[in-house]
Amino acid sequence: MRVITFGTFDVFHVGHLNILESARQKGTHLTVGVSSDALNLAKKGRLPIYAQQDRLRIIEALSCVDAVFVEESLELKSKYLRDYEADILVMGNDWEGKFDQFKSICEVAYLPRTPSISTTETIEIIKNL
Ligand code: CTP
Repeated sequence: MRVITFGTFDVFHVGHLNILESARQKGTHLTVGVSSDALNLAKKGRLPIYAQQDRLRIIEALSCVDAVFVEESLELKSKYLRDYEADILVMGNDWEGKFDQFKSICEVAYLPRTPSISTTETIEIIKNL
């Protein structure tokens, strides 16, 4: 069973680790699409703190992750699911329902988000120190 998930994974935190470990437990192989710097700039209006090659290296080094690639465009989601032969797409439940359109390609599961931590919140806390 091949699992796939997507995210920015900027300023890596335990919520990221929890979802990746839980995603891996849904199958036998985990591929992670790490969103590109350009995609984040377009989507959020700012660049991530960590550059895409560094975010990719951190994710790739985790024992629960088997393969990584750079997600260049949100429009290519179905192509990524097919190219990486995903049986199941996993996302945190902050995305509940948002990926249901891909249920014709693979199973879609939303896992509970770790409470009280996010990259945005961490950046805000550090800014206000
Ligand atoms: N995630 C999670 N629990 C958290 C934070 C993130 O399970 N506390 C999951 C998200 O649901 C997603 C993946 O981690 O499936 C990558 O999320 P990402 O957007 O990169 O992390 P956030 O911390 O949510 O970043 P931001 O605050 O910039 O939105």
